[in-house]
Amino acid sequence: MARFKTRGYVCCALMLLCALAIIIICMSVLLRKKCPDGTFSSVAVAADSGTCSRIGRDMLKKGGSAVDGAIAALLCTSVINPQSMGLGGGSIFTVMDSSGKVKIINSRETVPRNVRLDLLKTCPKSFQLIAGSKWIGVPGEIRGYEKAHELYGKLPWATLFQPTIKLAREGFPIPVIQGRYISYTESNTTKPLRELYTDKNGNLMKTGDIVKFEKLADTMEMIANLGAEAFYSGKIAEDLIRDIQEAGGILTVQDLASYKVTVTDAWVIPLGEYQMYIPPPPAGGVLLSFILNVMKGYNLDSTSLIGEQKTLVYHRLLEAFKFSNGLKKYIRDPGFSSEKMAKKFTEDSFAEHIRSLINSSKAHDPHYYNITPHLDNMGTTHISVLGEDGLAVSVTSTINNIFGSKVFSPSTGVILNNQLSDFCGREDSISPGQQPPSSMAPAVLKSKSKTLVIGSTGGGMITAGMASALINHLWFGKSLKDAIAAPIVYVRPENVVGFEQNFDENVIKDLVAMGHTHKAMARFYNVVNAVEKEDGCICAVSDARKLGEPAGY
Ligand SMILES: *[C@@H]1O[C@H](CO)[C@@H](O)[C@H](O)[C@H]1NC(C)=O
Ligand SMILES: *[C@@H]1O[C@H](CO)[C@@H](O)[C@H](O)[C@H]1NC(C)=O
Repeated sequence: MARFKTRGYVCCALMLLCALAIIIICMSVLLRKKCPDGTFSSVAVAADSGTCSRIGRDMLKKGGSAVDGAIAALLCTSVINPQSMGLGGGSIFTVMDSSGKVKIINSRETVPRNVRLDLLKTCPKSFQLIAGSKWIGVPGEIRGYEKAHELYGKLPWATLFQPTIKLAREGFPIPVIQGRYISYTESNTTKPLRELYTDKNGNLMKTGDIVKFEKLADTMEMIANLGAEAFYSGKIAEDLIRDIQEAGGILTVQDLASYKVTVTDAWVIPLGEYQMYIPPPPAGGVLLSFILNVMKGYNLDSTSLIGEQKTLVYHRLLEAFKFSNGLKKYIRDPGFSSEKMAKKFTEDSFAEHIRSLINSSKAHDPHYYNITPHLDNMGTTHISVLGEDGLAVSVTSTINNIFGSKVFSPSTGVILNNQLSDFCGREDSISPGQQPPSSMAPAVLKSKSKTLVIGSTGGGMITAGMASALINHLWFGKSLKDAIAAPIVYVRPENVVGFEQNFDENVIKDLVAMGHTHKAMARFYNVVNAVEKEDGCICAVSDARKLGEPAGY
């Protein structure tokens, strides 16, 4: 009898447990479902192409971390947008772990040992695409992935490479954006880069044609199987250096062997309810935080865009941009100059001082902003990833200008950067090991209830694109998508203002009347990719300007 009873109890208890489990499962499914259409409940990747966002997402689906997803998406981007970034470049990662701790992994290119001492004397005086092997910096890209994977990776290293090796080897139709830039391989280019895009009838390829990157696939396969070291010593390194030297470059195998990635703490900027984490110099986070700090003091909200308020807001923003152009020359590799000055630019007291110099009814002459001539650049990619465990990755990667130096290494399939041209107008002399200054500002913003992972591409337009998206979203109350889509204003190094297509014509007229010099610009290169988590739902936006598409689940 007693045994029966016990069995009965056990049975009952089991049934209760089962029912409870079913209720919990149902509730969690229901709770998950509450995320609105177009948002995700677990993870998201925003790269500058749908193909690479999906490859990144698939890594997370396999149990990978947000860093695994970011690396796979970067590798993918090196074939989908090879004009923007690749193994021959460098990158900066901002990574927030699930406890909220933020690290910067800096694998930006460095000055090679045998650099020509008069290199900067050969800088062009006005903006142009500077091609040529003399501008090649020592590539850090793969060392950056290695470090990020070592610190935060979950999947095996080789797994991250598989989808891209397949794409590169089997080929794929040239996407619209890559196709748009193929004509850039016609001038100031080494023969091998032209050949990469020449079909068997001798014609330059175009959008929709099948392109293969077979040598790059072989190189990636070796790195996948043997580790990052395979790029920095041994056969790949020797082949790469031989090709660079044949193109007239001065990099050596010692330069590659001695390349070191750095890991540092992020700088933290209080921004209302948020803490904004940015990479320190030589990255451009300081300029972004300076502009936001200046604008923060004007207490902007959704009413700031109504009537004459709107002109005043944009006038002040242009003034902040002009002062930030004047600060650029103080953003330097901290290993070669003091960071003190740059740190000061991120402080509220400095922003307050600059606000006191901004007259709300007129613009000033260029010397007022302490601007010295510098070159601007373009290109670059940005990827924002958020994992289920809260790991957040914001990474910007570049070979600098379109197709970098336009030197292509035929035996490794690598396109080399022209990052040393970023010193032009910013430094008088350079030293081996030094990193050029950059506008790249991969950022993570964190409040009690929200995480926002954001970054942009486009040289100087990085600062303008990110500042504009953040002001629109955080203060004007626009959705993340609308905040990124809104047309931007940009101040060129010559203190001339450009407005993106569809910018409010009346505001432009008023701004010109206030003394801003307006000149139409042919192209804007700002591309902001961002991921935001709020109340358990993730909104991801890949900028429509580069026809991007995010992915997630
Ligand atoms: C690029 O080529 C053009 C002619 O096609 C030439 O005038 C120009 O000087 C070249 N620029 C560089 C940086 O080599
Ligand atoms: C701003 O500029 C106007 C017009 O030149 C001038 O009258 C005014 O005094 C200036 N304001 C400040 C605070 O300097």
